[in-house]
Amino acid sequence: MVQLGVNIDHVATLRQARRTSYPDPVLAASLAELAGADGITVHLREDRRHIQEHDVEQLLKILQIKLNLEMAATSEMTDLACRLRPAECCLVPERREEVTTEGGLDVVRHHKQISSTVNQLKQAGIHVSLFIDPEFDQIVAAAETGTRSVEFHTGAYANSTNNDHRLYELEKLKIAFVQASAKGLITNAGHGLNYHNVQEVAAIPGLNELNIGHAIIARAVFVGIERAVRDMKQLIHDHAKYSREWP
Ligand code: PXP
Repeated sequence: MVQLGVNIDHVATLRQARRTSYPDPVLAASLAELAGADGITVHLREDRRHIQEHDVEQLLKILQIKLNLEMAATSEMTDLACRLRPAECCLVPERREEVTTEGGLDVVRHHKQISSTVNQLKQAGIHVSLFIDPEFDQIVAAAETGTRSVEFHTGAYANSTNNDHRLYELEKLKIAFVQASAKGLITNAGHGLNYHNVQEVAAIPGLNELNIGHAIIARAVFVGIERAVRDMKQLIHDHAKYSREWP
Protein backbone atom coordinates (compact mmCIF):
# COMPACT_ATOMS: atom_id res chain seq x y z
CA MET A 1 0.00 0.00 0.00
CA VAL A 2 1.47 3.37 -1.06
CA GLN A 3 1.84 5.71 1.94
CA LEU A 4 0.69 9.33 1.94
CA GLY A 5 2.80 11.99 3.62
CA VAL A 6 0.81 15.22 3.96
CA ASN A 7 2.87 18.39 3.70
CA ILE A 8 1.27 21.10 5.86
CA ASP A 9 3.65 23.98 5.03
CA HIS A 10 0.96 26.05 3.39
CA VAL A 11 -1.22 26.13 6.50
CA ALA A 12 1.72 27.96 8.04
CA THR A 13 2.03 30.13 4.91
CA LEU A 14 -1.48 31.42 5.60
CA ARG A 15 -0.67 32.06 9.25
CA GLN A 16 2.60 33.85 8.49
CA ALA A 17 0.87 36.10 5.94
CA ARG A 18 -0.61 37.99 8.91
CA ARG A 19 1.73 36.84 11.70
CA THR A 20 -1.33 35.55 13.60
CA SER A 21 -1.49 32.38 15.68
CA TYR A 22 -3.99 30.79 13.24
CA PRO A 23 -4.48 28.69 11.22
CA ASP A 24 -2.37 26.33 13.28
CA PRO A 25 -0.37 23.77 11.24
CA VAL A 26 -0.18 21.54 14.30
CA LEU A 27 -3.97 21.30 14.43
CA ALA A 28 -3.96 20.65 10.67
CA ALA A 29 -1.49 17.81 11.20
CA SER A 30 -3.68 16.24 13.90
CA LEU A 31 -6.72 16.36 11.63
CA ALA A 32 -4.72 14.92 8.72
CA GLU A 33 -3.61 12.11 11.03
CA LEU A 34 -7.23 11.42 12.01
CA ALA A 35 -8.16 11.32 8.30
CA GLY A 36 -5.58 8.61 7.62
CA ALA A 37 -2.35 10.38 6.66
CA ASP A 38 0.59 8.02 7.06
CA GLY A 39 3.01 10.81 7.84
CA ILE A 40 3.31 14.58 8.14
CA THR A 41 5.94 16.53 6.23
CA VAL A 42 7.20 20.04 6.97
CA HIS A 43 9.94 22.05 5.34
CA LEU A 44 11.79 24.23 7.84
CA ARG A 45 13.32 26.79 5.51
CA GLU A 46 16.30 28.95 6.26
CA ASP A 47 14.13 32.07 5.84
CA ARG A 48 11.35 30.56 8.05
CA ARG A 49 8.75 31.73 5.54
CA HIS A 50 6.17 29.22 6.74
CA ILE A 51 7.00 26.49 9.26
CA GLN A 52 8.73 27.70 12.46
CA GLU A 53 10.94 25.77 14.84
CA HIS A 54 8.21 25.74 17.53
CA ASP A 55 5.85 24.02 15.03
CA VAL A 56 8.33 21.19 14.61
CA GLU A 57 8.73 20.87 18.38
CA GLN A 58 4.96 20.72 18.90
CA LEU A 59 4.46 18.23 16.07
CA LEU A 60 7.03 15.92 17.58
CA LYS A 61 5.12 16.02 20.87
CA ILE A 62 1.65 15.29 19.55
CA LEU A 63 1.91 13.16 16.40
CA GLN A 64 1.43 9.40 16.50
CA ILE A 65 2.51 9.10 12.87
CA LYS A 66 6.00 9.89 11.61
CA LEU A 67 7.27 13.41 11.04
CA ASN A 68 9.39 13.96 7.95
CA LEU A 69 11.47 17.12 8.23
CA GLU A 70 12.57 18.59 4.91
CA MET A 71 15.70 20.69 5.22
CA ALA A 72 18.77 22.01 3.46
CA ALA A 73 22.05 20.18 4.10
CA THR A 74 23.52 22.99 6.19
CA SER A 75 25.27 22.72 9.54
CA GLU A 76 22.57 24.89 11.23
CA MET A 77 19.80 22.55 10.05
CA THR A 78 21.78 19.39 10.75
CA ASP A 79 22.42 20.49 14.35
CA LEU A 80 18.75 21.31 14.77
CA ALA A 81 17.60 17.97 13.32
CA CYS A 82 20.05 16.04 15.51
CA ARG A 83 18.65 17.87 18.55
CA LEU A 84 14.96 17.40 17.62
CA ARG A 85 15.31 13.91 16.12
CA PRO A 86 12.32 13.57 13.78
CA ALA A 87 11.77 10.05 12.44
CA GLU A 88 12.91 11.13 8.98
CA CYS A 89 14.81 13.97 7.30
CA CYS A 90 14.57 14.65 3.60
CA LEU A 91 17.46 16.76 2.30
CA VAL A 92 16.36 19.28 -0.32
CA PRO A 93 18.09 22.09 -2.21
CA GLU A 94 17.10 25.55 -1.06
CA ARG A 95 17.33 28.94 -2.70
CA ARG A 96 15.95 32.01 -0.97
CA GLU A 97 14.41 33.49 -4.09
CA GLU A 98 12.54 30.34 -5.18
CA VAL A 99 8.76 30.07 -4.75
CA THR A 100 9.02 26.35 -4.05
CA THR A 101 11.69 23.63 -4.30
CA GLU A 102 12.48 23.93 -7.99
CA GLY A 103 14.73 20.96 -8.66
CA GLY A 104 16.32 17.98 -7.00
CA LEU A 105 19.57 17.99 -5.03
CA ASP A 106 22.73 17.91 -7.12
CA VAL A 107 24.25 14.98 -5.22
CA VAL A 108 26.93 14.49 -7.88
CA ARG A 109 28.26 18.01 -7.39
CA HIS A 110 27.82 18.29 -3.61
CA HIS A 111 28.65 14.69 -2.80
CA LYS A 112 31.03 15.37 0.08
CA GLN A 113 28.76 17.79 1.93
CA ILE A 114 25.65 15.66 1.44
CA SER A 115 27.43 12.45 2.49
CA SER A 116 28.65 14.12 5.65
CA THR A 117 25.12 15.38 6.47
CA VAL A 118 23.62 11.94 5.77
CA ASN A 119 26.18 10.43 8.10
CA GLN A 120 25.50 12.84 10.97
CA LEU A 121 21.73 12.36 10.68
CA LYS A 122 22.08 8.57 10.56
CA GLN A 123 24.23 8.65 13.67
CA ALA A 124 21.41 10.53 15.42
CA GLY A 125 19.09 7.64 14.50
CA ILE A 126 17.25 9.56 11.79
CA HIS A 127 16.04 7.87 8.57
CA VAL A 128 17.46 9.92 5.69
CA SER A 129 15.98 10.60 2.27
CA LEU A 130 17.43 12.67 -0.60
CA PHE A 131 15.16 14.65 -2.90
CA ILE A 132 16.56 14.11 -6.39
CA ASP A 133 15.59 14.35 -10.03
CA PRO A 134 14.92 11.00 -11.75
CA GLU A 135 18.42 10.87 -13.29
CA PHE A 136 20.74 7.84 -13.23
CA ASP A 137 23.89 9.73 -12.15
CA GLN A 138 22.01 11.31 -9.23
CA ILE A 139 20.67 7.90 -8.16
CA VAL A 140 24.17 6.39 -8.20
CA ALA A 141 25.59 9.34 -6.25
CA ALA A 142 22.69 9.22 -3.77
CA ALA A 143 23.24 5.50 -3.10
CA GLU A 144 26.92 6.21 -2.42
CA THR A 145 26.05 8.70 0.35
CA GLY A 146 24.52 5.91 2.45
CA THR A 147 20.99 7.36 2.37
CA ARG A 148 18.20 4.86 3.01
CA SER A 149 15.62 6.51 0.72
CA VAL A 150 15.29 8.83 -2.23
CA GLU A 151 12.32 10.99 -3.15
CA PHE A 152 11.97 11.64 -6.86
CA HIS A 153 11.01 15.15 -7.91
CA THR A 154 7.80 14.80 -9.91
CA GLY A 155 7.68 18.50 -10.90
CA ALA A 156 8.67 17.95 -14.55
CA TYR A 157 5.93 15.32 -14.86
CA ALA A 158 3.34 17.48 -13.07
CA ASN A 159 4.16 20.58 -15.11
CA SER A 160 4.07 18.84 -18.49
CA THR A 161 1.74 20.61 -20.88
CA ASN A 162 1.04 17.90 -23.45
CA ASN A 163 0.51 14.17 -23.61
CA ASP A 164 3.88 13.26 -25.16
CA HIS A 165 5.83 15.25 -22.63
CA ARG A 166 3.82 13.81 -19.74
CA LEU A 167 4.35 10.23 -20.92
CA TYR A 168 8.06 10.92 -21.43
CA GLU A 169 8.42 12.24 -17.86
CA LEU A 170 6.36 9.35 -16.49
CA GLU A 171 8.65 6.88 -18.27
CA LYS A 172 11.70 8.63 -16.80
CA LEU A 173 10.19 8.22 -13.34
CA LYS A 174 9.45 4.54 -13.91
CA ILE A 175 13.02 3.87 -15.06
CA ALA A 176 14.42 5.81 -12.09
CA PHE A 177 12.35 3.69 -9.69
CA VAL A 178 13.82 0.51 -11.16
CA GLN A 179 17.36 1.91 -10.98
CA ALA A 180 16.99 3.11 -7.39
CA SER A 181 15.40 -0.15 -6.24
CA ALA A 182 18.30 -2.05 -7.82
CA LYS A 183 20.60 0.03 -5.59
CA GLY A 184 18.57 -1.05 -2.54
CA LEU A 185 16.99 2.37 -1.99
CA ILE A 186 13.47 2.96 -0.69
CA THR A 187 11.70 5.02 -3.35
CA ASN A 188 9.34 7.92 -2.70
CA ALA A 189 8.05 10.72 -4.92
CA GLY A 190 6.48 14.15 -4.70
CA HIS A 191 6.05 17.71 -5.87
CA GLY A 192 3.27 19.21 -7.94
CA LEU A 193 1.02 16.17 -7.54
CA ASN A 194 -2.71 16.85 -7.37
CA TYR A 195 -6.08 15.12 -7.59
CA HIS A 196 -5.83 14.87 -11.39
CA ASN A 197 -2.31 13.61 -11.92
CA VAL A 198 -1.57 11.51 -8.83
CA GLN A 199 -2.90 8.16 -9.97
CA GLU A 200 -0.46 7.24 -12.69
CA VAL A 201 2.43 8.09 -10.37
CA ALA A 202 0.80 6.08 -7.57
CA ALA A 203 0.71 3.12 -9.98
CA ILE A 204 4.49 3.03 -10.50
CA PRO A 205 5.81 -0.32 -9.24
CA GLY A 206 8.04 -0.07 -6.19
CA LEU A 207 6.65 3.25 -4.95
CA ASN A 208 6.72 3.49 -1.16
CA GLU A 209 5.38 6.96 -0.37
CA LEU A 210 4.01 10.12 -1.96
CA ASN A 211 4.52 13.51 -0.34
CA ILE A 212 1.79 15.96 -1.27
CA GLY A 213 1.15 19.44 0.08
CA HIS A 214 -0.18 22.31 -1.99
CA ALA A 215 -3.06 20.47 -3.68
CA ILE A 216 -4.33 18.99 -0.40
CA ILE A 217 -4.19 22.27 1.51
CA ALA A 218 -5.80 24.12 -1.41
CA ARG A 219 -8.72 21.66 -1.44
CA ALA A 220 -8.94 21.82 2.34
CA VAL A 221 -9.87 25.52 2.09
CA PHE A 222 -13.18 24.43 0.57
CA VAL A 223 -13.91 20.97 1.93
CA GLY A 224 -11.84 20.78 5.13
CA ILE A 225 -8.55 19.01 5.62
CA GLU A 226 -9.98 15.66 6.68
CA ARG A 227 -12.03 15.30 3.49
CA ALA A 228 -9.10 16.58 1.39
CA VAL A 229 -6.79 13.93 2.87
CA ARG A 230 -9.39 11.17 2.51
CA ASP A 231 -10.03 12.07 -1.14
CA MET A 232 -6.32 11.90 -1.91
CA LYS A 233 -5.90 8.61 -0.05
CA GLN A 234 -8.81 7.15 -1.98
CA LEU A 235 -7.29 8.14 -5.33
CA ILE A 236 -3.95 6.65 -4.37
CA HIS A 237 -5.67 3.49 -3.19
CA ASP A 238 -7.65 3.22 -6.43
CA HIS A 239 -4.68 3.96 -8.67
CA ALA A 240 -5.12 0.79 -10.68
CA LYS A 241 -8.33 2.26 -12.05
CA TYR A 242 -6.79 5.54 -13.17
CA SER A 243 -7.92 6.91 -16.48
CA ARG A 244 -5.40 7.24 -19.30
CA GLU A 245 -7.24 10.28 -20.56
CA TRP A 246 -5.63 13.62 -19.93
CA PRO A 247 -7.52 16.90 -20.02
N1 PXP B 1 8.45 16.79 -1.59
C1 PXP B 1 9.39 17.73 -1.40
C2 PXP B 1 10.79 17.29 -1.16
C3 PXP B 1 9.05 19.11 -1.42
O1 PXP B 1 10.01 20.03 -1.24
C4 PXP B 1 7.70 19.47 -1.58
C5 PXP B 1 7.31 20.92 -1.55
O2 PXP B 1 7.60 21.47 -0.33
C6 PXP B 1 6.76 18.45 -1.75
C7 PXP B 1 7.15 17.12 -1.78
C8 PXP B 1 5.30 18.74 -1.90
O3 PXP B 1 5.08 19.46 -3.07
P1 PXP B 1 3.63 20.05 -3.36
O4 PXP B 1 3.38 21.11 -2.31
O5 PXP B 1 3.76 20.60 -4.73
O6 PXP B 1 2.67 18.92 -3.24
